[in-house]
Amino acid sequence: MEKLNNKPYVFITRMIPDEALAIIAEYCDYEVWEKEDVPVPEQVLMNRTCKVDGLLTMLTDKVTDEHFMVGRNLKVVANMAVGFDNIDISAAQEYGITVTNTPDVLTDTTADLTFALLLSAARRIPEANNYLKQGFWCTWSPMLLTGVDVYGKTIGIVGMGRIGQAVARRALGFNMMVNYYAPTPKDLGHLPVSFKPLEKLLSSSDFVCVLAPMTEKTKHLIGERELALMKPSSVLINTARGPVVDEKALYNALLKKQIWAAGLDVFEDEPISPDHPLVNLPNVVATPHIGSASIETRTKMAVLAAQNLVSVLTGNPPLNKVV
Ligand code: DGY
Repeated sequence: MEKLNNKPYVFITRMIPDEALAIIAEYCDYEVWEKEDVPVPEQVLMNRTCKVDGLLTMLTDKVTDEHFMVGRNLKVVANMAVGFDNIDISAAQEYGITVTNTPDVLTDTTADLTFALLLSAARRIPEANNYLKQGFWCTWSPMLLTGVDVYGKTIGIVGMGRIGQAVARRALGFNMMVNYYAPTPKDLGHLPVSFKPLEKLLSSSDFVCVLAPMTEKTKHLIGERELALMKPSSVLINTARGPVVDEKALYNALLKKQIWAAGLDVFEDEPISPDHPLVNLPNVVATPHIGSASIETRTKMAVLAAQNLVSVLTGNPPLNKVV
């Protein structure tokens, strides 16, 4: 990439690994929001957007049509996530601003976490861990902390993109029957999986994994009606976006034992507090949106976001263009 005399100016909304920062530093002047665990306040993001040529954003940053309106020099928003529901994509398009994301590099890490939640909820691992650490273990007992089997069961994957397919590969290793739902059946010749309409998929699955992106069409895709179709012995996993599942309906379904358990990495309104009703149910295993959180993968995501940002600002096509 050709270096520019007048370096573009960019705002990075959270501390990112040095490898990624080095890529940006070579081609751009930059400012970083340095408070590691505090998202950049809306007003600060708005002020910076007025001045910069590029933004490197997180999924916690809401980028609206107002940002595109005030960002007179803004050319690119490089999101450090595969999901981009935090960005008003149609407004970006309207203002001719490039938006990029970070697909592929996080596929297997997120599939691993999905499967970890599935195993944890099925075999009650967090509950068992607490039981032991709190000193309740006094003897082996035939039905103590019994869960449900995973191997050989039926899994239904809602949303069969890259991560859905990676979860399918893991499930096949557990000898599971794999069904999926997507808006249209996919050509997945290499994978022994079957398409099912959503209702059929829900009623026939022992495990339902939600991996659909958040769009207007997928908001509350899994609600009261859908949960009522699931087996009482079934487990729901959501590692996509919170609003794809109607949380109130899920809470009621778990409380009424309409379904057996849930594993959740995402929530409708993040972050949630420890007194969130779902987290206080014994049959919920919850993690704080860590699907892609391995050191290797988060570093790759930051590097990819930096490369996308710099590509656009040096007049080259981005690696991962959303619009
Ligand atoms: C994403 O990238 O969209 C995940 O939710 C965070 O890795």
